[in-house]
Amino acid sequence: MSENAVNEIIRLAERDREASPAYFRAAMRRLVGGVSVITAGAGNDISGMTVTSVSSLSADPPSLIVSVNRASSSWPLLRQHRHFGVNILNADQADIAERFSGKDGLKGAERFAGADWIERASGARLLSGALAAIECEAEDIIERHSHAIIIGRVLHVELSADDAALAYWHGNYVAIDREKDMARLADVSLPTGHVRDAGAAGRFSRREG
Ligand SMILES: Cc1cc2nc3c(=O)[nH]c(=O)nc-3n(C[C@H](O)[C@H](O)[C@H](O)COP(=O)(O)O)c2cc1C
Repeated sequence: MSENAVNEIIRLAERDREASPAYFRAAMRRLVGGVSVITAGAGNDISGMTVTSVSSLSADPPSLIVSVNRASSSWPLLRQHRHFGVNILNADQADIAERFSGKDGLKGAERFAGADWIERASGARLLSGALAAIECEAEDIIERHSHAIIIGRVLHVELSADDAALAYWHGNYVAIDREKDMARLADVSLPTGHVRDAGAAGRFSRREG
């Protein structure tokens, strides 16, 4: 093989590494994502989906963003009804995440069976026992590529007493327990400024030095 041909292969491989969807997906698998279920629609015309793309936008006014695939069954409902629920799952709710990922073939209202939902006046469904459940109104929707970025204005918040979250990392659900994992992090020693102060409640706060 000529030197030029080898260089061309290297150039193509490097380009692939720089911008291919496969490498991008591999990078994103390394990003720890908090797992939420978005609920969309009203009455019996409802669906929902598992997402890791929820992120805070601003605290004042309270608003968030979520990125939704426009091929999903929730997308037309979100666009039409404009109100939606964001349910931040706790560590025991991986089964609910599975139902709303569509993997077992459940559709629409079927995904809601087996859990308790609070229906807000807007029609948005909030999950009882979620780590936090947030009712939103879509303030803006930006359609880009395969997805839509939905900017949700927060209308109502429910907080549970649970302290263990459900995360997704490297294709697996992972529980993050505030008590257990903070203790583990303290064992491997956190950098200065985030170091433990083993108070009576076993929580951690800043320690100087
Ligand atoms: C852990 C996890 C996170 C996901 N995050 C997103 C996301 O942020 N945005 C998205 O559009 N789809 C996401 N999905 C895929 C949707 O859950 C899935 O495509 C959707 O539920 C399929 O819905 P449908 O059968 O109603 O079309 C995620 C799936 C899983 C398992």
